Parts: sequence; C-alpha cells; structure tokens
Amino acid sequence: LEPLELVDQLVRHMPPSPRPSDPSSPSLPASMPEASSRFGPREPAGSGGRALAGQKVVITAGPTREAIDPVRFISNRSSGRMGYALAEAACEAGAEVVLISGPTALPAPKGVTRIDVETALQMRAAVLEQMPCDLFIATAAVADYRAAEPAPGKIKKSADELELRLVKNPDILSEVASRDPHTEGRPFTVGFAAETDHVLEHARDKLVRKRLDMIAANRVGEGLAFDQPDNALTVLWPGGQAELPKADKRLLARQLIELIAQRIDQRA
Ligand code: PMT
Repeated sequence: LEPLELVDQLVRHMPPSPRPSDPSSPSLPASMPEASSRFGPREPAGSGGRALAGQKVVITAGPTREAIDPVRFISNRSSGRMGYALAEAACEAGAEVVLISGPTALPAPKGVTRIDVETALQMRAAVLEQMPCDLFIATAAVADYRAAEPAPGKIKKSADELELRLVKNPDILSEVASRDPHTEGRPFTVGFAAETDHVLEHARDKLVRKRLDMIAANRVGEGLAFDQPDNALTVLWPGGQAELPKADKRLLARQLIELIAQRIDQRA
C-alpha cells in the first residue's frame, strides 16, 4: 500500500455564490425571539462592553484522524484556521475559551485553553467533559466514519485489492444540541456546514435536523474554505440569515462572533 490518507470531504471546484460587497456589515433580517440558554452574566453586544464577557465558550477545530493501522489514517484537509480564528475572536470578546483541536500546525491563540485530540471519539469525550457551557461552536471537520477494526500492525502490501470497513462516528454537534436545557445545561449551539453543492439547502437541513441555534454554511472545494486563509459564510438561524462575504478568516471570525452575540441577546 502507498501511504493512505482517505479524504472524507468531497473537494471540487464550484463557483462562489454572489455576495454583498461590504464585508464589514452583515445584513441582519428579522429574527424569532426564543428563550436564552445562557448560564453566566453577559454584557450586551454593541454597548461598548465586550460581547461575550463572562461566558464559557467551547470550540472544536481542525480535522480528526481515524487510524487504519499504526501508521495510516482517514482524515481531511482542515487546517484548523477557522476554528482557531473563532477561538481568538471569542477570547477578544471577553469569553473564557476552551479550544478542542484535532491535529494542526497552529499555535494556540493567547489566552485560550487548548485541548489536543486526535480521533472523533476523543473529541467527543473532550467536548462532553467541558459541558455545560454558554456557547458551543463546532468548526471541526470531524471524520464521519472510522475504521471498524484498525489493524494492530502495519498492513502489508500483498493482496491486489483491500477492503476497509467503516463505522459511523457519533455526531458531537447533535449530541450537544440535544442536551436538556433544564437538567443538563444546553449551550447556544452553532454548527458549520461544509458543502460542495446545494449549500443553503443542505445547511438548512442540518440546522433543523441537528436542532441548532445557528449554522455557518461554507462552500468547499478546490481553493475554497478548507486550508485557505480566507472564507465566505452564509449564516442561518431559525427565522433569519446573514451573509459574511469572503474575507480573511480572522476578520470573518470576529464578524461571526458578533453575530452570535447579537443572536444570544435577541433570544434573552
Ligand atoms: O480548518 P480550515 O482549513 O480553516 O477550514 C475550515 C472548515 C472548512 C473546516 C470550516 O469552515 C467548516 O466548514 N467546518 C465544518 C466541516 C464539516 O465537517 O462540516 P459537516 O457539514 O460535515 O458537519 C456539520 C457539522 O457537524 C459541523 O459543525 C461539524 O463540526 C459537526 N460534526 C460533524 C460530524 C461529527 N461526527 N460530529 C460533528 O460535530
């Protein structure tokens, strides 16, 4: 066998969808008021205070790696940049930030507590250990499947064909979103949707099916989102949506954090 790295995201080039020209002003349509899921006190966004002051924020970032044998794994092209930028922006907004990261080459942003994991199961355990929290953002590209039986030794190149049986990983985001707000503490839960086609349709489906408070949809493919310095997001929530046009991921992260803080305020 050649070194195996199975990419679990389809990557192909798609033209970017048309977006508004001003990157600093996301359009915020009417939204539906809902009960707050906050635990700590919060300064109102836009009041001159820091938008997430006093909040505990848990963010997942980067890829996961699922072992095939001791030297090979299933993974994807996530660099961790988007999640790390969100951790930095949340920290700047006054939050206590725990970043649960798959393998990346990035240093932890200053002031952020980073917990390193490798597999989806490890990421799930680390996330659940940090519950309850006020805000959960799932930016990680978690492998949807893992090898059913990773080989204990390096697989030898003998047979002409090799079958690999995969089993589904637990969906960390769905599990957090399903927490009981009264007995378990459910955070304001934000997911990402990485899609090559029908981006909004798939993102809307994930928002509803996973019972999220918000989802940030990005078109992925060659030169888009994964392992890029910039990105563009369409952010959806029940009753509203906003466009965050293509920008450096650090700027985009600040805009998304501000949008999340506004939504939390509107629901309070
Ligand atoms: O890391 P970068 O190079 O900066 O790239 C950023 C990014 C493209 C990885 C990021 O913007 C992004 O889109 N992250 C989500 C990638 C993804 O796997 O999306 P998905 O549509 O397959 O998953 C939907 C949501 O469920 C995501 O929030 C994901 O974190 C979550 N999930 C998925 C599977 C699983 N087992 N557990 C999960 O929590």
